[in-house]
Amino acid sequence: MKTRSVVSLTIKLFIGVLLSKGIQCTNWNEIAKESLKNALKLQPNTGIAQNVIVFVGDGMGLSTINAARIYKGQKQGKPGEETILEFEKFPHVALSKVYGTDKQVPESAQTATALFCGVKTNFNILGLRDSVGTSDCNAQKTQGKTAEVSSIVRHAIEQGKSTGVVTTTRITHATPAATYAHAAHRDWESDADINSTLHGDCKDIALQLINDNHDIQVVLGGGRRAFLPVTVPDPETNAIGVNKRLDGRNLIETWETIQQGKSKNYRYVWRKQDFDAVDENNIDYLLGLFNPAHMEYELERDTGNNGEPSLTEMTAKAIKILRRNKKGFVLVVEGGRIDHAHHDNKAKKALEEAVQFDEAIKEAVSLTSQKETLIIVTADHSHPFSLTGYTNRGNDILGLVDEESFKVEPTTDHMPYSSLLYGNGPGYRSPRQNLTGINTDDKDYIQQSAVPLEYDTHSGEDVGIFAQGPMSHLFHGVHEQHYVSHVVQYAACLGDYSEDCDKESRSSTSGSTTQFLSLFASLCFIFSLM
Ligand SMILES: *[C@@H]1O[C@H](CO)[C@@H](O)[C@H](O)[C@H]1NC(C)=O
Ligand SMILES: *[C@@H]1O[C@H](CO)[C@@H](O)[C@H](O)[C@H]1NC(C)=O
Repeated sequence: MKTRSVVSLTIKLFIGVLLSKGIQCTNWNEIAKESLKNALKLQPNTGIAQNVIVFVGDGMGLSTINAARIYKGQKQGKPGEETILEFEKFPHVALSKVYGTDKQVPESAQTATALFCGVKTNFNILGLRDSVGTSDCNAQKTQGKTAEVSSIVRHAIEQGKSTGVVTTTRITHATPAATYAHAAHRDWESDADINSTLHGDCKDIALQLINDNHDIQVVLGGGRRAFLPVTVPDPETNAIGVNKRLDGRNLIETWETIQQGKSKNYRYVWRKQDFDAVDENNIDYLLGLFNPAHMEYELERDTGNNGEPSLTEMTAKAIKILRRNKKGFVLVVEGGRIDHAHHDNKAKKALEEAVQFDEAIKEAVSLTSQKETLIIVTADHSHPFSLTGYTNRGNDILGLVDEESFKVEPTTDHMPYSSLLYGNGPGYRSPRQNLTGINTDDKDYIQQSAVPLEYDTHSGEDVGIFAQGPMSHLFHGVHEQHYVSHVVQYAACLGDYSEDCDKESRSSTSGSTTQFLSLFASLCFIFSLM
């Protein structure tokens, strides 16, 4: 008995040594030890954020991140699950509670107001407190400045920083609009969208961007039609009737006139070749409106001269222009069409948009220094999107649940199902469609849903916050969504936190105390292993 247990122990030890030497294919112990080593080295960066970049993946819930990670890995010929997205490398991660003042499940104007302006508010409201009701133009006008809340972009301009807003949606759409506009309804994008009888005469969002926010230096996205008179042909197609303005204003010409008056270098561009030609070292104001409506999905993007730049290209151009300001910059970048693809229950398009969004983040990380740039990646809300079915490792993320896994828990209608599904949306069929032989990998394949809706709704679950750079450790648990704006302001000494910002003490990043504590922690770890 005794010798047997000694032999068994020896064998176990031998196997243990083999495992720890990385003999097996994936050495889980090594992976975990590497993570532990990095975690122990982690020190809070308590310096001032010279620059802040907030990336919002619209509708990019945790299940979308998970599936996008697998999709990205599989595009590189790997099983996929082990893939690490760029922002998943960030050291600080938290959860964000996205409900609105009036809604358990929110929409994007109220969540963007929380993210950028620092207060929760009502459904469909942009840049106003919840003292104003949705669509209540009268209340908005009566309450005036007392109801308005300023965004991190406006706060940054007040401190002399450069600012930019970049999106793949219309620039007047909910998320980007919350950085500059105040509107009791997000749909008031042009004057044609405001019914004076029903709504009153509030100022439309496009007009607010050009009249009141021409000091935002970089503005890139879609949505030209809200800036041009209905009588003016679209520059790309020469078609009449694409543009929307009824008041005759050509807001693009207005923008050019305003910038000219500042004696600054400015440029308006509407297609890729002109965008590419912009010299970032010699431009102060850049307005790019690349589509009458939303920009194209990446899977359908025209990359030719008359086409559109990618989100990554827009992000890079913006950073290169803005970083020339010695006082730093604040940039907001939205991966806006993840959300739209989900609304259509088109998972492949959503995942490709999410991967492109991740590429833009990678570019931003490479163009900035972690020491002085706070980068935050979050979502405004999630979607009822799920990854299910006990699928095997490496199973095509867009495919059907593999046969072996199907047998673990077979469907009661005996028909196959895809591992990606939606809780509601246009993918509903009754009876359920037999997916045998259907190409679920197609970009326009509509995943099945449980409840018939023309568009899927958002979902109310928490979303992630991923951060690196100065004060990123302040994301450390479960936060209310509007906390994000407060961390940005505190980190960069803006807005509410510009006065009591002790620039002297905070500029001495990671002083000797934290270094000592970190050394002490490492020693404790080494001793605990001995
Ligand atoms: C505003 O809406 C009302 C009610 O739907 C409608 O009768 C009216 O024609 C609309 N006015 C404009 C200017 O579109
Ligand atoms: C689903 O379709 C396949 C191919 O047409 C067929 O063989 C199978 O019997 C169908 N399953 C059910 C449950 O109808």
